[in-house]
Amino acid sequence: MADALKVGIAGLGTVGASLVRIIRERAEELAVTCGRAIEIGALSARDRSRDRGVDLSDITWFGSAEAMATEADIDVFVELIGGAEGAADQAVRAALERGLHVVTANKALLAKHGVELAALAEEKGVLLNFEAAVAGGIPVIKALRESLTGNKVSRVYGIMNGTCNYILTRMEKEGLSFQDCLREAQRLGYAEADPTFDIEGNDTAHKLAILTTLAFGTQIAADEIYLEGISNISIQDIEAAADLGYRIKLLGVAQKTESGIEQRVHPTMVPRDTVIAQVDGVTNAVAIESDILGELLMVGPGAGGDATASAVLGDIADIAKSRPGEQRVPVLGTPAKALAPYVKARMRSHEGGYFIRLTVADRTGVFASVASRMAENNISLESIVQRASPQPQAAAGSKTIILVTHATTEESVRNAVTAIKGESYLVGEPQVIRIERPKAF
Ligand code: NAP
Ligand code: HSE
Repeated sequence: MADALKVGIAGLGTVGASLVRIIRERAEELAVTCGRAIEIGALSARDRSRDRGVDLSDITWFGSAEAMATEADIDVFVELIGGAEGAADQAVRAALERGLHVVTANKALLAKHGVELAALAEEKGVLLNFEAAVAGGIPVIKALRESLTGNKVSRVYGIMNGTCNYILTRMEKEGLSFQDCLREAQRLGYAEADPTFDIEGNDTAHKLAILTTLAFGTQIAADEIYLEGISNISIQDIEAAADLGYRIKLLGVAQKTESGIEQRVHPTMVPRDTVIAQVDGVTNAVAIESDILGELLMVGPGAGGDATASAVLGDIADIAKSRPGEQRVPVLGTPAKALAPYVKARMRSHEGGYFIRLTVADRTGVFASVASRMAENNISLESIVQRASPQPQAAAGSKTIILVTHATTEESVRNAVTAIKGESYLVGEPQVIRIERPKAF
């Protein structure tokens, strides 16, 4: 049997502690499957005295992740710290510079520095694996980077944040408050260190930026993503969506259009009878539409210690099975130096259906005026209904008008909403939610 593969693990929180436990519990099986033992050669975190639920006293400890990357007797540096800058960034660069393979679950780091890091790994002839960075345990990186080779991807989209899907599901099914659901997601280890990254959509945007590069062979462009989180979604929206036959999910969508690539993250209404609408709780789903294969949909655990550690372990096993110096596939699917420039499609040109909820004064002619504003902007309506406003805080005598449009442009909807905002009958802010229709499932 070949020499053991020695891994150094930096970060022993939710994911790191699970990984250490699993590597120890599955040592015999891993040695057989990988053809060599996988040994933990070094560890690093901030607080050595903290109880990690496993005995770590026999493993070399480094107080600094960067020191571990430069000095430890290891073959693979596993980064499970998090964050786009600081300790994680410095340690990963140090490890690659030294010629170590790197495995990371850090989407923030890759979204910001992924191209540079991929170029460095390619120059040094080492592997940089990051399956856990997108959609937790779902092997979507491998699917895009390897299995779909030769396909032309037209759209990739999905539910990529377990925290948001968990919150939306529990709000809908149990009527719990947003804050209660978020606290529970944090307790279960799903949320980022700063949970605003989850609920404001940044985490999904980081993941989407990585998928866009793998799908379309373009430079990572995380700053070019249209972004809306879920903090503005109310129980009223969730109920209205249900009445109309939809459910609300936070989707990340990257789509090839005639004018460039559209990247957007926003709450989205999906038809209730589609598979993606049934994906509940911390589960993630990623759909890829391509010309040879057609539509592929992968559903699985998107966050949590064990699910994420499973993907990290798969990456380590790939390294254990590779030959020295072997780079079977480029880090980002396309060699870093050959990635094409990212050409952004204008969000205003986005085409699709829209849900619009308005709270309005209960006056004669309001309904007709709203319909006119839509018509003036060439928006064709699938449905328009008026209801007594259920909001206790709404002005007395107000009504709710809910519109669902046929496919139209973002530009038209924004113009119509701006026109309605100028009307004296409007109470509060209009709510606009985009509708997305899966092709096959
Ligand atoms: P976590 O529970 O917050 O753990 C972070 C770990 O990093 C802790 O052990 C912490 O040390 C250590 N750390 C923080 N700053 C450090 C520094 N300056 N130097 C050395 N160590 C430092 O985070 P996590 O949830 O496991 O997430 C880790 C990574 O996986 C992140 O990139 C995250 O985005 C990604 N990820 C997480 C999940 C998930 O479900 N949690 C899923 C997919 C991807 P102490 O313990 O001593 O404080
Ligand atoms: N905070 C992330 C989520 C962890 O909730 O999906 C997985 O990347």
